[in-house]
Amino acid sequence: MPDNPYAMWHAVDQYLEARYVPSDDALNATLSNTIEAGMAEINVAPNQGKMLMLFAMMCGAKRILEIGTLAGYSAIWMARALPEDGQLITLEYDPRHAEVAQKNIDLAGLSDKVEIRVGRAVDTLAQMVVAGEGPFDFIFIDADKPSNPQYLDYALKLSRPGTVIVGDNVVRDGAVIDAKTSDPNVQGVRQFNDLIAANPRLSATAIQTVGSKGYDGFALAIVLGD
Ligand code: SAH
Ligand code: DHB
Ligand code: MG
Repeated sequence: MPDNPYAMWHAVDQYLEARYVPSDDALNATLSNTIEAGMAEINVAPNQGKMLMLFAMMCGAKRILEIGTLAGYSAIWMARALPEDGQLITLEYDPRHAEVAQKNIDLAGLSDKVEIRVGRAVDTLAQMVVAGEGPFDFIFIDADKPSNPQYLDYALKLSRPGTVIVGDNVVRDGAVIDAKTSDPNVQGVRQFNDLIAANPRLSATAIQTVGSKGYDGFALAIVLGD
């Protein structure tokens, strides 16, 4: 390993992306529009975006729910797994993010399949439960981390046996192992991991990742039958 492991992770991600994740006008435009709008570059990495698409394809997802849109990067990846009549609903608090995301989704030719709902995700999710908008086949949780326990709760309410749930950012540079942390993001992620692991309706694991986005990880769960 070189002295700077981050440089190595970045170079290896470039190597992998050059082979596995061909460049693509819509996704490139989404990333440059993210920067141009002054938004944080906290989208998933390209190879992770493709992984989300593959997960959605593996479960034959027709209805996908995303919590945390940003500029629509992960939404575009996941929506590409959908069949003609499939739908992705993505929830975003910041109307400026939603505006940039809508532009990117239009550019990607996915306006018919992707719907952005603006508002606090806990409010939108509560409305979705009341309106009986579940079940979703695939759910990606990637918004404000302190709300992760609530997002898990709503995800379960909007699930069926077989629904796949992915939670991003469950390692946070390793900070997740600090039981005494005062960081509300890390606290949220720790509770999230505990709740997933202890829930008898879920079978789950979590994986550490390194790469162009640094050191983090994701949780992967499937909702079990009754
Ligand atoms: N999934 C995206 C990244 C999402 S970043 C991708 O990989 O491309 C997290 C997003 O969650 C940000 O856009 C932020 O504005 C949004 N967010 C933060 N708090 C929220 C809340 N309470 N409700 C809905 N969205 C929220
Ligand atoms: C942050 C949020 C994310 O969803 C992510 O992938 C990386 C970082 C953050 O809030 O710092
Ligand atoms: Mg994330």
